[in-house]
Amino acid sequence: ALVSMRQLLDHAAEFGYGLPAFNVNNLEQMRAIMEAADKVDAPVIVQASAGARKYAGAPFLRHLILAAVEEFPHIPVVMHQDHGTSPAVCQRSIQLGFSSVMMDGSLGEDGKTPTDYDYNVRVTRTVVDFAHACGVSVEGEIGCLGSLETGMAGEEDGVGAEGVLDHSQLLTDPEEAAQFVKDTGVDALAIAIGTSHGAYKFSRPPTGDILAIERIKEIHARIPNTHLVMHGSSSVPQEWLAIINEFGGAIPETYGVPVEEIVEGIKYGVRKVNIDTDLRLASTGAVRRFLAQNPSEFDPRKFLKVSTDAMRDICIARYEAFGAAGQA
Ligand code: G3H
Ligand code: 13P
Ligand code: NA
Ligand code: ZN
Repeated sequence: ALVSMRQLLDHAAEFGYGLPAFNVNNLEQMRAIMEAADKVDAPVIVQASAGARKYAGAPFLRHLILAAVEEFPHIPVVMHQDHGTSPAVCQRSIQLGFSSVMMDGSLGEDGKTPTDYDYNVRVTRTVVDFAHACGVSVEGEIGCLGSLETGMAGEEDGVGAEGVLDHSQLLTDPEEAAQFVKDTGVDALAIAIGTSHGAYKFSRPPTGDILAIERIKEIHARIPNTHLVMHGSSSVPQEWLAIINEFGGAIPETYGVPVEEIVEGIKYGVRKVNIDTDLRLASTGAVRRFLAQNPSEFDPRKFLKVSTDAMRDICIARYEAFGAAGQA
């Protein structure tokens, strides 16, 4: 059944686990997520970005998710809109049937320019008002995602601040977070702790100076009843990087957020963990390897099947590691 995000995150908080929120753009990702959730009996959060709507078209995305609900009626599914850049975008998603929206007012309507506190509160409060009237949950964000090594947002395109950010923007301030939750009434709060979107998060395996898990603990101590959200939480599996590069790829050395660090965050209020890049890497590695090893194959179902299986295995591993397995 389609459920609101608030329902799932309240349950996750009560029972002390975290939920991966996987980005979805196409049938194969949707199937991978649902097959994984079905196998381990986990609740599902799928999220669609602006890029996903552009790629698949909003009606196709909507019906992909509704098809998942139809095929797996015993699994609760949240249809979440990732990184909404304005109240209008969120309103349109609600009209389309999304059960949860993110109003990312930490950046302006261009998805790039950092905003001030008052702007963020104004747009987020607006969305909370109309979303809650429809039973739809709202995620807000305070602080800007970006690298503590470089001050850069990480991704060249897509959602992420432009230019160099300073340290105070890159780490969410616990006091400001508390004020923001009070001022907006959001159901979940995305925080900045040094992660960024995409594959290029850290130039070395992260230590506390560049991945601030301690900051989660400080925020959680200040607002223990707020569901925290970690963005940019792909782990960038080294084994998939090696496979991609072995079969013709060229991805430079890079590191993600270790699963055990996410698990530490889950002990301190993190309930939603956004993951997109890991599925992209697994999919690409599986397709590259399959085509290299089966040069005469040309039926896309063959290579999309190995892609789906690789993504499904990542999903299973995250559901299990975050304690979501068995909670559906
Ligand atoms: O917010 C970042 C997600 O990974 C979505 O990426 O904008 O390329 O779909 P995208
Ligand atoms: P990754 O790029 O680390 O997978 O993060 C995805 C994300 O935060 C989507 O909002
Ligand atoms: Na989101
Ligand atoms: Zn994000």
